[in-house]
Amino acid sequence: MAVEIRRVGVVGLGTMGAGIAQLCVQAGLETVGREVTTELTQRGRSTIDHYLSRGVEKGRLTDDEKEAMLARLTLTTDVSDLRDCDLVIEAIVEELDAKRDLFAELDRTVRVEAILATNTSALSVTEIAAATDRPERVVGMHFFNPAPVLALVEVVRTARTDDAVFEAAFAFAERLGKRPIACNDTPGFVVNRILIPLLNDCVRVIDEAGVTPQAVDDAMRYGTNWPIGPCALIDLIGVDVHVHASEGLWEAVREPRMAPPPRLVRMLQAGTLGRKTGQGFFSY
Ligand SMILES: NC(=O)c1ccc[n+]([C@@H]2O[C@H](COP(=O)([O-])OP(=O)(O)OC[C@H]3O[C@@H](n4cnc5c(N)ncnc54)[C@H](O)[C@@H]3O)[C@@H](O)[C@H]2O)c1
Repeated sequence: MAVEIRRVGVVGLGTMGAGIAQLCVQAGLETVGREVTTELTQRGRSTIDHYLSRGVEKGRLTDDEKEAMLARLTLTTDVSDLRDCDLVIEAIVEELDAKRDLFAELDRTVRVEAILATNTSALSVTEIAAATDRPERVVGMHFFNPAPVLALVEVVRTARTDDAVFEAAFAFAERLGKRPIACNDTPGFVVNRILIPLLNDCVRVIDEAGVTPQAVDDAMRYGTNWPIGPCALIDLIGVDVHVHASEGLWEAVREPRMAPPPRLVRMLQAGTLGRKTGQGFFSY
């Protein structure tokens, strides 16, 4: 079945969903954003407005273009408003049960030809797809944070994903101006499968080698030209998000490097989560 994508739904307008919805309206697509409360829909719109306004200030787009983009965004708390979408991208909390419940609801509500995509970082796309009666029309579309800035999208197919659906999702990512790669539904896909154990190693070195987080960051920045040090990167990602993803990968792969290092678990327990709390490896 050929798939033409004209109208897109984004479910969850938090960090990732707001960025994905922004990309969609920038690409000229009618976009419906769904959140759980009206206040959260408004928060999502404010985030998008804020970043588009920065684009105006920097001369990347005009005021009229910004207003036209915002006019393409419709907000709702009602899943049934997604019924006419050709593609729905889910970016809600990283919990399997919540995602499966939502996919079952989307499956009952959204037109049968529509593609359902999940932005999960670490859950099984196959298990999410299995909550629907259209697993062949479910893919992963894993954007990176901040979605409007980072070019990669991992487009994930399961054993049951229809080829035309996968190709449509891949082409859609290109239409958003992204650099998609084709992935299979394996734990951590490609980036997190590499990055999570690597960041965990960097944290373990702090204790094994008796050095400071700053020393580890300087080592990787000035010795290997990383644009940002690993500890600063974890502060940016959020210690909670990283530990959660590590635990997921550890459960799936059972390699000790995947398990969150004790130092990170202590930081999580202490609530020093990085930039979002003002304190992580570094102070903000
Ligand atoms: N933050 C990242 O760096 C990052 C990167 C790539 C992928 N992801 C993935 O993207 C997803 C979202 O992550 P986030 O960081 O944006 O989380 P977030 O907490 O910032 O946003 C999630 C939003 O979803 C909303 N929500 C929850 N249930 C909902 C429902 N049933 N319907 C509509 N909205 C609902 C919440 O109100 C919240 O605003 C997760 O699966 C996460 O693993 C996150």
